[in-house]
Parts: sequence; C-alpha cells; structure tokens
Amino acid sequence: MSVFMQVRDELRGNPRTWLITGAAGFIGSNLLEELLQLDQTVVGLDNFATGHRHNLEKVRGLVSDTQWQRFTFHELDIRSIEQCRIAAEGVDYVLHQAALGSVPRSINDPLTTNDTNSTGFLNMLVAARDAGVKRFIYAASSSTYGDHPGLPKQEELIGKPLSPYAVTKYVNELYADVFARTYGVESIGLRYFNVFGPRQDPKGAYAAVIPRWIEELYRGVTCRINGDGETSRDFCFIGNTVQMNLLAATTSNPQAVNQVYNVAYGARTTLNELFSEIRERLAKCYARVADAQPDYLDFRAGDVRHSQADISKAASLLGYSPSHDLQQGLDVTTRWFLEELEADA
Ligand SMILES: NC(=O)c1ccc[n+]([C@@H]2O[C@H](COP(=O)([O-])OP(=O)(O)OC[C@H]3O[C@@H](n4cnc5c(N)ncnc54)[C@H](O)[C@@H]3O)[C@@H](O)[C@H]2O)c1
Repeated sequence: MSVFMQVRDELRGNPRTWLITGAAGFIGSNLLEELLQLDQTVVGLDNFATGHRHNLEKVRGLVSDTQWQRFTFHELDIRSIEQCRIAAEGVDYVLHQAALGSVPRSINDPLTTNDTNSTGFLNMLVAARDAGVKRFIYAASSSTYGDHPGLPKQEELIGKPLSPYAVTKYVNELYADVFARTYGVESIGLRYFNVFGPRQDPKGAYAAVIPRWIEELYRGVTCRINGDGETSRDFCFIGNTVQMNLLAATTSNPQAVNQVYNVAYGARTTLNELFSEIRERLAKCYARVADAQPDYLDFRAGDVRHSQADISKAASLLGYSPSHDLQQGLDVTTRWFLEELEADA
C-alpha cells in the first residue's frame, strides 16, 4: 500500500481538525473535498478575493450531509491578525493556501500582493503559533527558483526572485524557518509547480493557462501564448498536490519537518505541446477545435523560461508518489470543464 493510502486510512480512523486558508479557491477547495471525504473536521477561511462561493457549493455536492456538517466556514481576511486568531483556535493542522497568485498581478500591484502574501502569511503563522497548532503546512512556489538556471530544480539551489510574487513566497520560507528555530513552530513549505485540475478559475486577467485554454477552445476564442511557445513547465495535477499536503501534515519522520519540498510531477512540457494536448482532447468532442491555432505574443516580464522539478526529496522523506501524470490529469480536467461548460450552455 502507498504511504498516501496508509495516511488516508489512518486519518479516517483518527480524525483531526484542520484549518484551510483560501478554502474557496482552487487548491483550497480540493483540499476541503479530500478532508471532508476522510471524515475530518475542517475550518475554512477565505475573503473571496479570487475564490468563489460556488467552489464551496460544489464540494457540498460531493460529500455527505454528515461530512458537510463537519465544516465551518469563516469569511475572514488574513491581513488581520485578529481574524487569523479566530480561525486558528482549536486547530491541529493548518494548510495555508490563501494568497494572491500570479506573477503579472504582483508586477501590476506589488503592495496588495505583499499585504496578502507576506503580512497575511506572518499573521497566520503567529496565530498558529499562539493557538499551539501541531504543524503549519504552507503553499510556497516554484517561482522561488527565480533566475537559477539549473534543471531539474533541487530544493537547495535557488536564484534571485524575478517578480514581487516570488519575493513574497521566498519570504514565507524565511519566516517559517525562523519560527521553527525561534519558537519551535513545526512547518513544511510546499513549492508548487504549475498546479491544474477541476475548479481552477478559467476567468480573469490572471487565469492559469490550462483552464483558460480549455474554455477558449470550447468557445472558439483564439488562445494566446506568451513568447514562442517553447517555454516549458512542470504541470502538476491537483491530486498530487493534495497528496503532498496530507503527507506533509502527518509525517512522523523528524527529518522531514521544517523543510521545503518541490510539488510537481517531475517532467517538462512546452506550451506548444500543452496546447496540442488540450486541443486533441477537445477535438474528440468538437470537430471545430481540430484546426485551432494559437496567437503568439511577446514574452512576459517575470516569467522563467524553463521549469522542471526534482521530486526525489519528497519521494524519499515523505513517500510522495504522484498519482497522475500530465496526460492523466488533462483527461480528468478537460472532462470536468467540458461538463461544466455544457451544463452552463
Ligand atoms: N495554482 C498554482 O499553480 C500555484 C503555484 C504555486 C503556488 N500556488 C499557491 O497556492 C495557493 C493557492 O493557489 P490557488 O491556485 O488555489 O489560487 P486561488 O486564487 O484559487 O486561491 C487562493 C485563495 O485565497 C483567498 N485569499 C486571497 N487573499 C486573501 C485574504 N487576504 N484573506 C483570505 N483569503 C484570501 C482567495 O479568495 C482564494 O480563494 C496560493 O498561495 C498560491 O500562491 C499556486
């Protein structure tokens, strides 16, 4: 049995109390779904800056009434320490996902990104410390590798940040490390690479590429690629990300704690390849999509050219074994989005 399966069995038999910040967002709502299905007690916090009530409603439809009753939601803002304290009360594990994502957003508005991602993070960490939580798991980012040219990315080799967003995510790691040394707060940072899956927001100026392209192809809108399309990323299905959060929260390996880990599949796919993969899947249902071609725009400021993770640290210290590669993840994701789009049509 995989380590993840063992962890799920153990949690089912011995439920805990979890706080998910950013619970109405993409990753947060997927964590919520998993934890409720494992009969855990969950507290959710979100201010709906980029998350949606409909994500919570979707989760409600996927769990039993009894499981849903184990969920308490607070519409609160992590930029307030008092509000963080309310949410952290009585919690065993924090899964801190609340932040403003997107490199371009941070370039357009570095102050709001900093308030949320740096000050909000510090507030949540202080609240978790004072509430005596067992462990603080947080969303770090592959953007912390910045201008370091090495591939695949290994946790200890980072470069200079290339955007305000990347600065904030690195600051999270620095604070977590200092809080472990100074106050004994146990934490684990998860450097997510490009996560994708059901409930990722396809809309808005800062939407991620996979949901955006699925929706654009479906609607007959021309997709845009920043640069020549040979930029590459390590696309990580949400199921793998959920797995890493649970492994990190529950590990009893003392060497695994107060560390950061890459969370990815461990492969590299160019944007041109990704576009073809998505087009191929949609063309099976809608012949009109088969000939769709993207428009190529200028390269975008702050973007790194290539990204691929070395996932051996997570495998050896936490027993991580990704359940979905890009193809399997895209099968699930395109099917989910097309069902949603058809239902709305
Ligand atoms: N999706 C990715 O590929 C990716 C990659 C690297 C890191 N991350 C990180 O993972 C985390 C989750 O990202 P996501 O993709 O689910 O994004 P998301 O925007 O769907 O979720 C973030 C959630 O945080 C909430 N939030 C924002 N500001 C808040 C505030 N001040 N108070 C309370 N809640 C607030 C939003 O409303 C939203 O529901 C973020 O920390 C992000 O930086 C994501």
